[in-house]
Amino acid sequence: MRYSVWLFAAAWGSLVAAAWLLPQLWLVRLLVAAGSLLLTGVIAHLLAELAAALCPRPLLPDLRGKAVLVTGCSSGIGLSLAKRLDALGVAVFAGLRNPRCPGAAELRQTCSSNLRVLQLDVTRPDHVQHAVEFVRDNIGHREFWAVVNNAGITNGALLELTPAETFHEVWNTNALGGVRVTQAFMPLLRRSKGRVVFVNSALGVMPSPGVLPYTMSKFALRGFGDALRREVRRWGVSVHSVFPFFYKTSLTDYDTALKMLDNLWERSSQEIKDAYDERFMAGIKKAMKIWLFDRPKSSLAEPVDDIIDATVGATPNLYYVTGWMGKLHYALETRLPRSVADVIASYVTGFS
Ligand SMILES: NC(=O)c1ccc[n+]([C@@H]2O[C@H](COP(=O)([O-])OP(=O)(O)OC[C@H]3O[C@@H](n4cnc5c(N)ncnc54)[C@H](OP(=O)(O)O)[C@@H]3O)[C@@H](O)[C@H]2O)c1
Repeated sequence: MRYSVWLFAAAWGSLVAAAWLLPQLWLVRLLVAAGSLLLTGVIAHLLAELAAALCPRPLLPDLRGKAVLVTGCSSGIGLSLAKRLDALGVAVFAGLRNPRCPGAAELRQTCSSNLRVLQLDVTRPDHVQHAVEFVRDNIGHREFWAVVNNAGITNGALLELTPAETFHEVWNTNALGGVRVTQAFMPLLRRSKGRVVFVNSALGVMPSPGVLPYTMSKFALRGFGDALRREVRRWGVSVHSVFPFFYKTSLTDYDTALKMLDNLWERSSQEIKDAYDERFMAGIKKAMKIWLFDRPKSSLAEPVDDIIDATVGATPNLYYVTGWMGKLHYALETRLPRSVADVIASYVTGFS
């Protein structure tokens, strides 16, 4: 299977050569034309994205009159986003699991008094209910404009190495967490005709082997967001999903991921260890290093810019796939035949 991509490339090259040498073969010409059409589609998609990215993205007027809840603000994207929204004049309710964590201190020190930190574990219905009451009590004259469901975790790996409880834990935070928070704040959003934003993941549109609980939870979140958009449009509430590619945060920390994989491997039965031999695991770790250590960008500007546009932009998109690599992968994932996309995804993640 490792050589399937090269076989695909060789087959494609042979077709182009055959079309060139034997122009009377109409089937070959048809295949080449179809391939060229696919390529043209991908390039047109990327050009359209480029044009959109180069245009300035205007914001809504009167941001000082709006309040937004962001979950998972202790670090990474949530922390940067809360600071950016605060700098724009939006009143931010920054949800954190632990209000005494370093991220909370950083928000208190660097942001205006309009930003309020509150304890919010999205797996805890009592925290979610308390968050609604806290917002109602502290919103003052502002309208409650948006919920940004950003909190997320990753845990687990390959199917046979991952206990079912881990699937539940990741699902409970990434998928059900978004459901709980959105459900609780819907009455306020209905009143303002506001927005729901989901910080999803590239893996919520491009399924990846080796991170099954996370991929499953993000696909569920995407389905929830898409169906909810159709359900609440009658209230004037809009729903937006942002799919970040790979950025350096604690969620994508290579050493943590490696340690987790080693732990799962140690705990696995001999039967599983024999099936997934050391050589195969070494290939997966090599791919993990590329995706979690070499490729991720240190700057969080791309996802944060897109989430800002989704939350307070004047003409927000429904979907944002962040960054050029993300857009390219997405264009290929959605245009290539599934079997070809499967082979490529398996190859680049070390599963071929
Ligand atoms: N970084 C990337 O490349 C990337 C790519 C695709 C998608 N994303 C998505 O972006 C979002 C933010 O992730 P990040 O990259 O910024 O990673 P991060 O720095 O680890 O941030 C995750 C945040 O979620 C919080 N969180 C975890 N479980 C929670 C719970 N039960 N209740 C409330 N908050 C909880 C964490 O709080 P604690 O400090 O308490 O754990 C932390 O504040 C996630 O939804 C993630 O899936 C990130």
